Amino acid sequence: REEVVTIPVVVHVVHHTPEQDLGQDQIDSQLKVLNEDFRRANPDIAKVPDVWRDLAADALLEFRLADTDPDGNPTSGVVRRQTDTESFSTDDGVKIGSRGGSDAWPADQYLNVWVCELRHALGYAAFPGGPAELDGVVISHSAFGTMGTVAEPFHGGRTATHEIGHWLNLRHIWGDDGDGCSGTDFVDDTPNQAGFNRGTPSFPKLSCANGPHGDMFMNYMDYVADAAMFMFTKGQAERMDAALAGPRSSFLS
Ligand code: ARG
Ligand code: ZN
Ligand code: CA
Repeated sequence: REEVVTIPVVVHVVHHTPEQDLGQDQIDSQLKVLNEDFRRANPDIAKVPDVWRDLAADALLEFRLADTDPDGNPTSGVVRRQTDTESFSTDDGVKIGSRGGSDAWPADQYLNVWVCELRHALGYAAFPGGPAELDGVVISHSAFGTMGTVAEPFHGGRTATHEIGHWLNLRHIWGDDGDGCSGTDFVDDTPNQAGFNRGTPSFPKLSCANGPHGDMFMNYMDYVADAAMFMFTKGQAERMDAALAGPRSSFLS
């Protein structure tokens, strides 16, 4: 694909406290990060180790708050809903109005992003092919955008980058096999890697006989700190492209 594809986004701000009803500037700060990371225009791209520089991909994807709602009326692309629910778990309650959440907009036309007080996770995502009413990504307000209610070390907007990677069918870079060396992310140009990495590892970090360069822990699909992740590979961009050509092709028109 050579043309940029723009994905319309609806952000559901589901808030219990006034602080969780985060500001437009915090939402805009998240969109800015996405539009950098998926265009290889992130300010930290130069940190990619030389040996992987050629693998860093421009995924040719941009994200814009929706300007038309499902009824065809003008919208800000932001839905704000006050809830009695103090915090949500990863059981999709935030996606359902009758459970204190906010109902999804049609998932073939919008990327639904829910922002709320989330327990036990920074975020989670639906892979392609699931039920439309549960499709999209959920991000904790403490990891959404780069200002306001965000908390270090997940204050760089990279949780949404990671979750939208899943939404476009990317797997975790270590292959989701615990610490094993037999799992795969189904991408050819990412090194085989044992388990996830945390924090800010130093390069090279070896596992699974993947020397001399070792784990690509600076990939958005690892679990390192936001400031330590700054690339998708070309193989990952191809896999996202395949999701867009297949189960998510409604976004191409
Ligand atoms: N734990 C979450 C998941 O499995 C997201 C991790 C995001 N990491 C980050 N540095 N923001 O999808
Ligand atoms: Zn993940
Ligand atoms: Ca592994």
